[in-house]
Amino acid sequence: MQTVEFTRMEDGSREEYEFLDRLEGGYTARLPGRIMEAMQKLATSLSGYRINRLEHCLQGATRAQRAGESDEMIVAVLLHDIGDELAPHSHSEMAAAILRPFVSEKLYWIVKHHGVFQMYYYAHHCGGDRNCREMYRDNPWYQDAIDFCHNYDQNCFDPDYDWEPLEFFEPILRRVMATPKLEDPEQIARYGKAE
Ligand SMILES: [Fe+2]
Ligand SMILES: [Fe+2]
Repeated sequence: MQTVEFTRMEDGSREEYEFLDRLEGGYTARLPGRIMEAMQKLATSLSGYRINRLEHCLQGATRAQRAGESDEMIVAVLLHDIGDELAPHSHSEMAAAILRPFVSEKLYWIVKHHGVFQMYYYAHHCGGDRNCREMYRDNPWYQDAIDFCHNYDQNCFDPDYDWEPLEFFEPILRRVMATPKLEDPEQIARYGKAE
C-alpha cells in the first residue's frame, strides 16, 4: 500500500489505519530532528538583543546543565522560546505544548506561563504591569516559575558567556523525547495507558 483509498476518514478500513499508524510512528520518532532544525531557525528570529534567540536558549540550557538540573529541566530551558517564530503572541504556550508529553506537569506549567513571569523584568518600562505574575500567586509552582525565569531566562543575554553548542544538547533532547509520559487524557485515550 502506497496510500490509502479513502477520501473521507469515516470510510477508512482497519488495514488502512494500521498502515497510517506505522507511518505516523516513524514520523513521530523523528521529532527530535525536527526540533533541532526549528532551534537553528531561532538564530535569525528576534533582533536587537546582544545575542540571538538560539544563543539565548543555549545560554539558559548551559546554565541549567552546569547547575546540575535534570534532563527535563535542561530541555525545557532549551526549548522555552522555540515558539518565537510561529507564535509571537503566545510563544510560551507553543513551547509548553511541544514539551507536554515529555516533562512533568510542573515544568509544563512553568514553561506555559514563563512569558508572564518574564514581564516582571521589563513590563514597567513599556506601560505594562510587571506584577502580572501575581495572578498565579496561589499556584504551588509560582516560586518555581520565578526561579526558572530568574536563573535561566532573564539573565541569559550575555554575549560573553561560554554556552555549549546546540549539538551538545541533542543527546539530552533525544533522551527526554524518547518516551512520552502519557499523562494527558487525550494521549492516554489514543495510545493507551503506559505500563
Ligand atoms: Fe520566552
Ligand atoms: Fe527566553
